[in-house]
Amino acid sequence: MTGGHELWLVSRAAGVVALLLVAAAVLLGLTLAAGLVKTPQTRKNVITFHEHTANAALVAIALHGAALLGDGFLRPGLKGILLPFAIDYRPAYTAAGIVAGYLAALLGLSFYARKRIGAKRWRKLHRATPVIYVLGLVHTLGAGTDQGSTWLRSVMLSSALAAVALIVKRLMRPPKPGKISVNPTKI
Ligand code: HEM
Repeated sequence: MTGGHELWLVSRAAGVVALLLVAAAVLLGLTLAAGLVKTPQTRKNVITFHEHTANAALVAIALHGAALLGDGFLRPGLKGILLPFAIDYRPAYTAAGIVAGYLAALLGLSFYARKRIGAKRWRKLHRATPVIYVLGLVHTLGAGTDQGSTWLRSVMLSSALAAVALIVKRLMRPPKPGKISVNPTKI
């Protein structure tokens, strides 16, 4: 048997954990954006949970990529896990995972620099986070060994349906009174 089988298993497990955590972070964010959390204390708790799931996802993604380095079958090397299209194994689907990893690091950690970025610009940037989840799904469906299994497909389908429902709810939310866009020159 090729060496590094255990590390391949570690990488696969960490990949699934990463996907679950990214899904949880995105769903919690969309729940907040859809205005489903009413009381200030619950909102505070959900925001904290949202922050922790996003940070835990970064750790799981790092473990997922790093453990692959020991996989004696794929032998990706540092280039293979860091540069999109540098690996021979399903290059486009693996690239989707690598790009998702970079976006997760960039958009997730930008939270701690939001004062420097500016609250308004940061919020705009933060709206792109569902892209990480979509790229994670594409990556899993195209590169994952377990993507054909019922349990992983059920997880992907149910989280995707919940995300779509929350986005619809968010889009239907009436604008805040102060945010009604009127052209002041025409009043
Ligand atoms: C550093 C960036 C990444 C690299 C190099 C990478 C690479 C890979 C590779 C080569 C596989 C196929 C392994 C196999 O089943 O034989 C895989 C599977 C997988 N990856 Fe990634 N990935 C990255 C980022 C991500 C991210 C950001 C997520 C989650 C959002 C993720 C979730 C998964 C999942 C769930 C699987 C399927 C595991 C399985 O089928 O058992 N990956 N990844």
